Amino acid sequence: MLDTGLTQPVSRAHFAGLGLAVPDRVLTNEELSAMVDTTDEWITTRTGIHTRHVLRAGEKLSDLATEAGKQALSNAKIGADNLDMVLCATTSGDYLWPAMACVVQGNLGAKRACAFDVSAACSGFCYAVATASAFIESGAARNILVIGADCLSRHVNWSDRSTCILFGDGAGAAVLTAGSPDSGVLTSTLGTDGSMVEHVWMPTGGSANPVTEEMLVNGEFGLQMRGRDVYRFCVEVVPKSIVESLCRVGLKPADVDLLVLHQANLRIIGAVADRLGIDESRCFTNVGRYGNTSAASVPMALAEAAHEGKIAPGGVVVTAGFGAGLTWAVNVIKWTGN
Ligand code: ACO
Repeated sequence: MLDTGLTQPVSRAHFAGLGLAVPDRVLTNEELSAMVDTTDEWITTRTGIHTRHVLRAGEKLSDLATEAGKQALSNAKIGADNLDMVLCATTSGDYLWPAMACVVQGNLGAKRACAFDVSAACSGFCYAVATASAFIESGAARNILVIGADCLSRHVNWSDRSTCILFGDGAGAAVLTAGSPDSGVLTSTLGTDGSMVEHVWMPTGGSANPVTEEMLVNGEFGLQMRGRDVYRFCVEVVPKSIVESLCRVGLKPADVDLLVLHQANLRIIGAVADRLGIDESRCFTNVGRYGNTSAASVPMALAEAAHEGKIAPGGVVVTAGFGAGLTWAVNVIKWTGN
């Protein structure tokens, strides 16, 4: 496990602007009930998800990521030419390579910025925030655009009812900028347990198992998940990691003004918040409308929370992601942004 923020830097990364974009196509539980053997009642009870947004054929994830990035830049009042770096957290970018961050950098005209992707599944945005913070704290960068974007609708097996009901597409973005060392991203924790790679993964399509016609015919492709194992793992490891992260900067769960967890499903969010003793009013959720948007879920939730006035300057915001790898990540932020 990697802990950051152990020494006092000259400056820290501050959230200066946020943005989000989703496709306009909304897929309801009723529509899914006509596609696979499921019901609105099963989905709602187990996950809290009512609708999700999905890309139409021909639409590209990079366009959503670019739109979210533009909003974040405008919100931060920073021009794309002031960016030193563009980071995209994604596992479903437009192409196998190059990185989607390169496509977005080109779309934005952020000519001075270097660009690369961070691949840590649903933990990706929190991993990318920790990466950006380290560059800012070292003095190597001042302004970094961090985007979380995924379109797992392109990667689920639409005949597998246990997974296809869970995911939606979207993008969220944040501009991180160098500021006072007394606030901003105070610390991050990044964790991985690679012995659980097979708990949630895309075993086909990579170099180990390229997709064959036979796989397509037999439906042996797409995301696979051992839902219960993932659930148990997350509920165990995430609260522990949040408490450790807070403790490192002299805080405790009672000091948290807003908890923004990866929006996997309402039951996990509720179980993690319960273990921390954080009540519903301090826990942001929008999974009901968007489903699990993987790396996009945390920045989309942050953008909506800020828009709704739920994050105030001086407040302590904790974000946490968890997912394939298995990976998990926590950022503790003393908020200064809008
Ligand atoms: N509709 C109706 N029945 C269903 C459906 C469905 N959509 N899906 C599964 N079932 C059935 C199963 O077949 C099973 O039936 P059986 O008892 O006859 O065998 C029964 O419902 C229970 O299935 P479980 O998978 O055990 O259901 P569970 O209560 O565990 O809920 C869920 C499933 C919601 C996926 C849960 O395990 C969960 O939330 N897991 C965490 C997943 C997650 O959040 N992952 C995040 C990371 S993902 C990433 O990083 C890409």
